[in-house]
Amino acid sequence: MERLPEAVEGEADLDELLSAPSQALVDLMRRLEGDIMILGIGGKMGSTLGGAAVRAIAEAGVRKQVFGVSRFSDSSIREGLEARGIKTLSCDLLNRDSVRQLPHVANIIYMVGRKFGTAGSEHLTWATNVLVPDNVCHHFPESRWVAFSTGCVYPLVSAESGGCTESMPTDALGEYAQSSLGRERVFDYWSRTAGIPVCLVRLNYAVDLHYGVLYDVGSRVAQGEPVDLAVSHFNVIWQGDAACQALLCLEHCSSPPEILNVTGPETVSVRFVAETFARYFGTEARFTGEKTGALMYLSNAARATSMFGYPRVPLLTMIRWQAAWIQQGGRSWGKPTHYGVVDGKF
Ligand SMILES: NC(=O)c1ccc[n+]([C@@H]2O[C@H](COP(=O)([O-])OP(=O)(O)OC[C@H]3O[C@@H](n4cnc5c(N)ncnc54)[C@H](OP(=O)(O)O)[C@@H]3O)[C@@H](O)[C@H]2O)c1
Repeated sequence: MERLPEAVEGEADLDELLSAPSQALVDLMRRLEGDIMILGIGGKMGSTLGGAAVRAIAEAGVRKQVFGVSRFSDSSIREGLEARGIKTLSCDLLNRDSVRQLPHVANIIYMVGRKFGTAGSEHLTWATNVLVPDNVCHHFPESRWVAFSTGCVYPLVSAESGGCTESMPTDALGEYAQSSLGRERVFDYWSRTAGIPVCLVRLNYAVDLHYGVLYDVGSRVAQGEPVDLAVSHFNVIWQGDAACQALLCLEHCSSPPEILNVTGPETVSVRFVAETFARYFGTEARFTGEKTGALMYLSNAARATSMFGYPRVPLLTMIRWQAAWIQQGGRSWGKPTHYGVVDGKF
């Protein structure tokens, strides 16, 4: 990704940009021993992360297999992954007998999670977020683990706080956040008792032009709908940067687990983003719900930025790409982030 384009023209360009490996990731592949398995690859980020891994391996000129495991509820994802050179394995990770059939690999990226639809199906969210980690740690005690978590395990804070650092005590609100903290605790348990090296990646809002907080705000501005300022700030990171940073965390695993916030370095103002979109669209942004003393989910990415540098795709570039994507009628996955939810109910 030497020169960032003015706009992203279509699906092929977007995929190329999302899955472009950083130089640091290519270098890591030369040092990393063993194959890589991505659990829960069938979600919104899996293809980006798997793509970055296979491209980094190819650019490094090393031999390494990338395995992608999911139930593949959406079967079209599986073909795309195979076409990239990822060996896909269909498995319901809640089923212990099926987990036992998985081949052993040295490096695992854990992406399984359940958030939306929690209200009314709490049992499924808890099983996915807490039982699956136990099943897989039991089967792979020899591996090195990077496990995705979420910034929702932190308490709500003000925009002035600069976001929660990794040393902020957790305070999970609602069953999604509580079960996500449960996911972390299961990895913590296995890491401490079986000596498994783990890095817990607390991610805040990845941006892929098909979905993300920028899509949510930009599409409201484009449709002339008011943007709610009750949650006045958020954190975002280009999904390709989040994927590269997560893979780089394979060298930052420890027992007890390392914890790292992965997101963009800015505490981003919703008003600023909406007004920037409005300038691209030649319209006025409208607002509602502004209030003082608002609390929200915000993470401080100072540590990740000091380890990995500023993300390759800056905030203004993401907004420009997102604006052009919306204007050209680019595909949406119809998966709103619900970034404005602060009562813990998803
Ligand atoms: N995207 C973000 O901005 C964001 C923000 C904060 C945290 N995160 C965390 O980062 C991780 C990756 O994000 P994402 O957006 O890609 O998540 P996602 O879209 O929810 O994908 C997770 C995938 O896990 C798979 N899965 C669920 N239950 C499974 C089971 N029993 N067995 C096998 N696979 C199962 C599902 O794919 P199949 O249907 O194919 O099985 C699902 O699509 C998640 O853990 C999420 O909590 C993401």
